[in-house]
Amino acid sequence: MSDHELRVSKIRNGTVIDHIAGGQALNVLAILGIDADSGETVSVGMRVPSDRLGSKDIVKVEGRELSQDEVDVLSLIAPAATINIVRDFEVVEKHRVERPDVVTGVLSCPNRHCITTGDEPVASRFDVLDDGIRCQYCETIVREHIADHIDVG
Ligand code: CTP
Ligand code: ZN
Repeated sequence: MSDHELRVSKIRNGTVIDHIAGGQALNVLAILGIDADSGETVSVGMRVPSDRLGSKDIVKVEGRELSQDEVDVLSLIAPAATINIVRDFEVVEKHRVERPDVVTGVLSCPNRHCITTGDEPVASRFDVLDDGIRCQYCETIVREHIADHIDVG
């Protein structure tokens, strides 16, 4: 994207999540645990014109790098996303997200009798299937609207 088309300002330090499927930016924020109260400096572009994707969303988070668990879940809803690490205004690292075999944490199992949703602190773990995710503890499968299962607790 050339400079005269830039819609969201550049950041000094942090992470730019680029090439997010159009309309998924708010779900990306949820995965990162960012909401009105989190106090982080964040820029969001939604349905920004893109040569590669037609239109895309973009999220820039100042002063933060992402955990592998966050990137893993992100890959499920934004499979074409690029993670750019920015230091002192320069992109110092760029990589595509990869669909993992297993995702840990971030998502919660929809089965309220599952050991991961009880009072005991058992982290969620899902096997990643071709068409969804399966809880490793109770085998519940989530095929659609995975973003509805982001753990906001
Ligand atoms: N970016 C930013 N702040 C910076 C540097 C880059 O917000 N200090 C953003 C750019 O606006 C762009 C993304 O990070 O959306 C990746 O930057 P760059 O690699 O320079 O852009 P492209 O070459 O267009 O990326 P790609 O090839 O991945 O499309
Ligand atoms: Zn379960």
